[in-house]
Amino acid sequence: MENLANYLETNKERFLNELLDLLKIPSVSADPKFRDDVFETAEFVKQKLIEAGADNVELCPTKGYPIVYGEKLVDPALPTVLVYGHYDVQPADPYELWDSPPFEPVIKDEKIYARGACDDKGQFYMHIKAFEMMMQNGGVPCNIKFMIEGEEEVGSDNLEPFVLANKEKLACDVVLISDTSMIANDVPSITTGLRGLSYVEVEVTGPNRDLHSGVYGGAVANPVNVLCKMIASMHDENNRITIPGFYDKVAELSDAERAEMAKAPFSLEHYKNDLDINDVQGEDGFSTSERTSIRPTLDVNGMWGGYIGEGAKTVLPSKAYAKISMRLVPHQVSEEITELFQKHFESIAPDSVKVVVKPHHGGEPAVTPIDSIAYQAASKAYEKTFGQKPIPTKDGGSIPIVAMFKAELGVETILMGFGLDSDAIHSPNEHYGLFNFYKGIETIPQFYQEYVGMKA
Ligand code: BES
Ligand code: MN
Ligand code: MN
Repeated sequence: MENLANYLETNKERFLNELLDLLKIPSVSADPKFRDDVFETAEFVKQKLIEAGADNVELCPTKGYPIVYGEKLVDPALPTVLVYGHYDVQPADPYELWDSPPFEPVIKDEKIYARGACDDKGQFYMHIKAFEMMMQNGGVPCNIKFMIEGEEEVGSDNLEPFVLANKEKLACDVVLISDTSMIANDVPSITTGLRGLSYVEVEVTGPNRDLHSGVYGGAVANPVNVLCKMIASMHDENNRITIPGFYDKVAELSDAERAEMAKAPFSLEHYKNDLDINDVQGEDGFSTSERTSIRPTLDVNGMWGGYIGEGAKTVLPSKAYAKISMRLVPHQVSEEITELFQKHFESIAPDSVKVVVKPHHGGEPAVTPIDSIAYQAASKAYEKTFGQKPIPTKDGGSIPIVAMFKAELGVETILMGFGLDSDAIHSPNEHYGLFNFYKGIETIPQFYQEYVGMKA
């Protein structure tokens, strides 16, 4: 590993510059305006995998954006690790809130600022560079496959059919993903749980046209008013979700498990300061860490209707809309929760309006074991590079393919995320620490080494 350390030291400048080039391509999967850029990014990733020494590198076409695949198969008797990541990024809007343009990466205070810096370009690129390092220093210790997709941020609709059609090609002993966060740079952690997701869009229609709010106001239902009331009613006074059956399948943790979780360092003061809030809010009886990991949620992600232009236009709108996400925990099922939402939403709508619920993508929650060889290997790897044992934590975000890999390929995933919750992913001024980028590159080869040794 001495050689690897030297190699990293000699090449770190180039590794960073390559990542900056990758960050310059605006691969926003949600917005068709960036279609060509998303394809160009796939091509870039393909090229870098080839240069790093992968074989059979290809762009696998899908109905949407291509999946980049590459592999290094050294010996069928050795274990196989499948590295997953995503080269698409979230939209950068609102642009005016960025201190520097989202697709012109800059280094400030030892951090890379750009859309995708942490989620997930900076993180999956660590794997390509760790792979290059191993290839240039005696080869990889086991079989490695790469699958980097371009539609994660829009629900990975085309990934499941691809996985189902390519089970042989993707066959592996474990999946390795860096697309989550750790507690702090001096408190390493490994993610062992992710929440699932149900996402719906609702439309509330009142009168057949926008009306004069003086002429009709007071006598005709205002869909924006109605929608606000309906949404407000979906949490009770204890901040619990009121949809009947919503909590039926929620796995309740034992006191011992909760006590174990509570050992992870967390500063409420720091949390509040970081977000500039005077107080937190959430389900009664649970801590902030629990509310963002082991408890389900319902949140409006966006809401619109009526007049939102300059000045005042007196109008009683015809329609109101909202996009609503529900984060799910074991053993809630995305499709069932979406259905419960729909039934409930329709049942609470007053006769004065019509409602439509349109389901979007979903995903199942996932938990990964901490007694597996892969987890132990990852833990050892962190111990070596961080000098301390990582803490297992549950994250609030969702990576739907983790549950899918388990269900379809029968394999567990190791979530070796090197980001921080404060990296502003999906927000303006997203960033990724240089420390985190290089520490990841250093830790990944250690994982392979430990994993192969422990599997033997
Ligand atoms: N990398 C995130 C998920 C994540 C972030 C997990 C931080 C744990 C900690 C991923 O790119 C993401 O944003 N997922 C979406 C879900 C997807 C179906 C659009 C999410 O969680 O909103
Ligand atoms: Mn991600
Ligand atoms: Mn994301």
